[in-house]
Amino acid sequence: MLQDKFGRRFHYLRLSITDVCNFRCSYCLPDGYQCDSPRDFLELDEITTVVKAFAGLGTSKIRITGGEPSLRKDLPEIIKTCAGTEGIKEVAVTTNGYKLPQMIDAWAEAGLTNLNVSIDSLDPRQFKAITGHDKLQTILQGVDRALALGLKVKINSVLLKPYSEALLGTALDWLKEVPVSLRLIELMQTGDNHDFFNANHVSGLPIKEQLLALGWQQAERKVTAGPAQEFSHPDYAGRIGLIMPYSKDFCSSCNRLRVSATGNLHLCLFAEQGLPLRPLLKEGDVAALQARLQSLMGKKEATHWLHEGFTGATKQLAMLGG
Ligand code: GTP
Ligand code: 5AD
Ligand code: SF4
Repeated sequence: MLQDKFGRRFHYLRLSITDVCNFRCSYCLPDGYQCDSPRDFLELDEITTVVKAFAGLGTSKIRITGGEPSLRKDLPEIIKTCAGTEGIKEVAVTTNGYKLPQMIDAWAEAGLTNLNVSIDSLDPRQFKAITGHDKLQTILQGVDRALALGLKVKINSVLLKPYSEALLGTALDWLKEVPVSLRLIELMQTGDNHDFFNANHVSGLPIKEQLLALGWQQAERKVTAGPAQEFSHPDYAGRIGLIMPYSKDFCSSCNRLRVSATGNLHLCLFAEQGLPLRPLLKEGDVAALQARLQSLMGKKEATHWLHEGFTGATKQLAMLGG
């Protein structure tokens, strides 16, 4: 069991497999992907070792993230390795969705159970303004296919000041019929988006009040749940989740750890730096890796300190998969 000094237990691993992305989301990578150093991402056998070690210590959910994970050609094999590891019950991918229509069948066949897709606006022009790509219709077709395949689908929309009011209106219409969970995410400050953050951050709390007033009810949280407060409504097929990292006590329910695409353990999305695991991964020594993971748990801090303007070493969330 992986547990920290505050008694938090970790059943959920976010595993980044690349930090490269082909989108240019205004809040994340407005200037595109900056390659500071040659990239040497974890290989399939190293990923297998990571997953085995975590699963043996009680992890039951793996979320594969990026950058954009579908840029790796071996993503179906990575999903298969995760799904085939004893103890792993849920395998999830977070994607910008641009390859969904071509790839979703192969991912589902490999054992994918949950899919999160970033769709910051349901208006094609706004979508293009935010992401730099004209792909909304293709992505929505991929979402339909994922639902038809029986996957649990969540949609991520970052709340941005100019778009947030319109977003809730169009989203509510969509959610009447479409059984996805739409998550409204408060913009987080990172090392590279300071001015953008100051100009665009909006709180999710007024939206929570609005939802409660409209008859939406807050749901119970599972042990492997993500950070969202989830709401449902009897007249809607879909659900709404609010991710509010600036709200009080956000970190007290933290249940996840992260491994970066180059094999560093990150105890928090905004921790100062990664703790290297790679030498042990190259050796494939699961027991040694487990001992190291357990010895590092004591270093996990109580909170991200985001509310005090601390962003650690995280220049963009693409570096670490969010
Ligand atoms: P589920 O497990 O399906 O609920 O997903 P998730 O919300 O954990 O994952 P996803 O990759 O869809 O991330 C949605 C948003 O939540 C992104 O903006 C992430 O950066 C953010 N997020 C996820 N975990 C954390 C966390 O531990 N701390 C902070 N501050 N943000 C997080
Ligand atoms: N603040 C909030 N969410 C962000 N994401 C990327 N950067 C930020 C940020 N600065 C979201 C993306 C994606 C998820 C993995 O992280 O929209 O859905
Ligand atoms: Fe956009 Fe995600 Fe790519 Fe960042 S990593 S630019 S949020 S698609």
